[in-house]
Amino acid sequence: METDDQLLAEFRQLWADADRIWEREDKHPAFEAYVSADYLSVFQNLQNLKGQAVSFLEWGSGLGVVTIMASRMGFDAYGIEAESNLVDYSMDLAEAYGSDAQMVHGSFIPDEFVWNPANGDEAIRTTIDAPDGYAQLDLDLCDFDLIYAYPWPTEHALYHNILREFGGPNVRLLSYDAREGIALVPFGV
Ligand SMILES: C[S@@+](CC[C@H](N)C(=O)[O-])C[C@H]1O[C@@H](n2cnc3c(N)ncnc32)[C@H](O)[C@@H]1O
Repeated sequence: METDDQLLAEFRQLWADADRIWEREDKHPAFEAYVSADYLSVFQNLQNLKGQAVSFLEWGSGLGVVTIMASRMGFDAYGIEAESNLVDYSMDLAEAYGSDAQMVHGSFIPDEFVWNPANGDEAIRTTIDAPDGYAQLDLDLCDFDLIYAYPWPTEHALYHNILREFGGPNVRLLSYDAREGIALVPFGV
């Protein structure tokens, strides 16, 4: 069993590998909506949540870094990503870093979700017209205890609306925001 320091040292290599891919592929259309979170901050928040959640889902898993960290920290970790190139990169990184995380190509927005701007639904960087990825995971959104996402600042309402309607009774959203940092939002009844 690795110590937290050993795990963090491995994760720092994972972050560097992911950043190298991003720098190299920056201009590729698949990376248009991709920005990486502050991985250290996400890691520290996941550490605080160990033992409080079992199943973890990253919405828009990008290069898979957060999902891979979550799986290595003991969560049952999954990711859904709209860009297939990014899914391919993320599965390669998962293999390289000894993670059994599963990342699939699709949308995290359930097909049944009905778009309603009157409720604050707004999308700037989030893909809204792709089929969802839940069937590929053989899981529904309500099966997850902890969701992690990095929405555009004006997209938080959309993400919350989806979880209010389709999340499980005890689901929590760990969200990263470039300006506000990390927030943990409960949706329990
Ligand atoms: C801001 S990046 C965040 C990447 C990673 N989650 C992180 O925190 O470092 C958002 C990612 O969500 C993906 N994305 C956008 N809309 C999506 C959707 N409806 N379903 C799945 N992925 C989506 C983008 O392709 C991009 O990789």
